[in-house]
Amino acid sequence: MQDTVTLGRPDDFHLHFRDGAAMASVVPFTARQFGRALVMPNLKPPVTTVAMAADYRDRILRSVPLDTPFSPLMALYLTDGTTVEEVARVADSDFVHAFKYYPAGATTNSESGVTSLSKIYPVLEVMQRLGVVLCIHGEVTDPTTDVFDREALFVEGSLQQIARDFPVLKMVVEHITTKEAADFVVASGANVAATITPQHLLYNRTSIFTGGIRPHFYCLPILKRETHRQALLKTATSGSAKFFLGTDSAPHAKNSKEACCGAAGCFTSHAALELYADAFDSVGALDKLDDFASRFGAEFYGLPRNAGRLTLKRESWTPPDEYSFGGETIVPLTVGRSLSWKLL
Ligand code: DOR
Ligand code: ZN
Repeated sequence: MQDTVTLGRPDDFHLHFRDGAAMASVVPFTARQFGRALVMPNLKPPVTTVAMAADYRDRILRSVPLDTPFSPLMALYLTDGTTVEEVARVADSDFVHAFKYYPAGATTNSESGVTSLSKIYPVLEVMQRLGVVLCIHGEVTDPTTDVFDREALFVEGSLQQIARDFPVLKMVVEHITTKEAADFVVASGANVAATITPQHLLYNRTSIFTGGIRPHFYCLPILKRETHRQALLKTATSGSAKFFLGTDSAPHAKNSKEACCGAAGCFTSHAALELYADAFDSVGALDKLDDFASRFGAEFYGLPRNAGRLTLKRESWTPPDEYSFGGETIVPLTVGRSLSWKLL
């Protein structure tokens, strides 16, 4: 039995850091494991310009522990009002690497998102021409649509439409949760990729309701049925360069998760690689983890691979049930359970 696994220093291509004191609490977890992370722009107010991203990046860097070789990669929040000039500024920037498309109302802090696809056609045209990456939260927003169907319907509608009308646009379908999304990416050209979170590889929708309601399993897109989890696990471990690591670690204070209307988001950055190692190990595919975590994402974004290596050891351990989060606390996805892999 394999007892260690060594990886190139990995990248997290989808992450929420928040801001202020809360951010200062979570940045060190990511900096300990990853060389870079693509930081989501859904702050209040959202990060909509290269100038705002420069300020946010400086604030993040002040939270990175000394001697940690961690570099934040920034993404801008796409709105109905995003200008073609801003797209050109992103193309010229060496620290903004993508736009994030939130359909308005799809998830946390998406109120300023895109209200209709036709409104962003002029900027998509320029992104396609200049090679700027579009990261997509792929869910329809009609509140009457069953929450478990929202991703598949987005794939069938908006995503097919974007792919047809912008055939060489570089896009990343973020945090895919369904077989439909995985099949769409496989069937597309090399300009289309996807990130996969640890929770969608490890858990299914029944996990949310095991023995009672478990708010720390609630994220958007929501966990799906077991057949989808199996399809994602197969895809993530297939060796296809179109699928890479993006945790979507999305910290919320304990009292806003454990509430009558709990916030969406799973906090995983305290043990991100360990969670992925458990998932890959469950199907005997630890040999596929290095490319998924450290190579394919960097290649898609046209970045060099990070220097340095990390080793995980097979060792059972239980992460704390809570961590501090600014003046509050945060409960991780792993609450009440042990992991089988540990970062050395
Ligand atoms: O569960 C989620 N939480 N999904 C998202 O898309 C946003 C995120 C957040 O920012 O909390
Ligand atoms: Zn996210």
